Amino acid sequence: MKVLGFESSCDETGVALVETRPEGVPRLLAEALHSQVDMHAAYGGVVPELASRDHIRRVLPLATQVLQRAGCTLADVDLVAYTRGPGLAGALLVGAGVAVALAAALGKPALGIHHLEGHLLSPFLADDAPQFPFVALLVSGGHTQLMAVAGVGRYELLGETIDDAAGEAFDKSAKLLGLGYPGGPALARLADFGDPQAFALPRPLLHSKDLDFSFAGLKTAVLTQHRKLGTNVCEQSRADLAASTQAAIVDVLVAKSLKALKQTGSRRLVVAGGVGANQRLREMLNAGAAKIGAQVHYPPLALCTDNGAMIALAAALRLQHGLAVLQTDGAFDVRPRWPLAELS
Ligand code: KG4
Ligand code: ZN
Repeated sequence: MKVLGFESSCDETGVALVETRPEGVPRLLAEALHSQVDMHAAYGGVVPELASRDHIRRVLPLATQVLQRAGCTLADVDLVAYTRGPGLAGALLVGAGVAVALAAALGKPALGIHHLEGHLLSPFLADDAPQFPFVALLVSGGHTQLMAVAGVGRYELLGETIDDAAGEAFDKSAKLLGLGYPGGPALARLADFGDPQAFALPRPLLHSKDLDFSFAGLKTAVLTQHRKLGTNVCEQSRADLAASTQAAIVDVLVAKSLKALKQTGSRRLVVAGGVGANQRLREMLNAGAAKIGAQVHYPPLALCTDNGAMIALAAALRLQHGLAVLQTDGAFDVRPRWPLAELS
């Protein structure tokens, strides 16, 4: 079975074709992505209306590209999957509308996928795919969650952020430092030249007994330090503040992930979502996990941030596990707010 997947929940239009295999993990045949980062950069963040309009412009040409790259035609597609939520309502409607219309035209079913389930299962596209059960650290622009994953569609929330997401902490701190959007990668690049111990920034909830996170206070601390540095701040101080910010976020993510492994007795951690691309996070997690004999799995670096492959993959895995409620009547809705735990 071949699954064509569409992702359009935020500022990336992603399309991919995945093929199920009788045994083993579905195979990625081709994918294409258009990032709207340059378009939104001028505004310092995502402008929802512009995002929707750009998805409309990109989605069909990307689908054509994907089919060409895979050496397939629309007639080869057995199922059309799309991101149903969470995300920007208008942006979601573009991908969902196109996917459901395409499915109806082809006489094939459609399937709405949870964006975070896509992230969560994306490490199955890597060479060292994990085995169930595992603990997942989901770190994206809008979410920071630890989940116990027993199998496809079996997700239990262990802890989550009570305010800002880790990606948001990166993005907002980057903005304070005068770095562009998206801030995460920019802050990480500047941090390479700085001293992570130069500024003593808070590690909120580091020692709390639960597995929750809080990053709002960190942003305020970064703002305070930045103000103290004044307007004529030298490049080294900015790099030091970037490195200290990154270290504070990473320390908390690593500590809570290791705590989740201990609490659940699991020895497998899966990291997914845009912040999973962060090199310091990867290094610290790998080192911490190695100490307790645990292994960390990541999606391929290019599939950490939003993409169509993870949506097509999640649909293919749901199909394989008999968990796909297929839509055949041309009707659909989107879920801009949609807790992942509702899937279980
Ligand atoms: O998963 P994602 O692409 O989109 C959402 O579903 O939100 O995650 C985007 C987030 C942004 O906050 C971005 O700044 C962050 O991931 N990010 C990073 C890195 N690459 C992306 N944060 C830190 N270091 C990175 N290298
Ligand atoms: Zn995402």
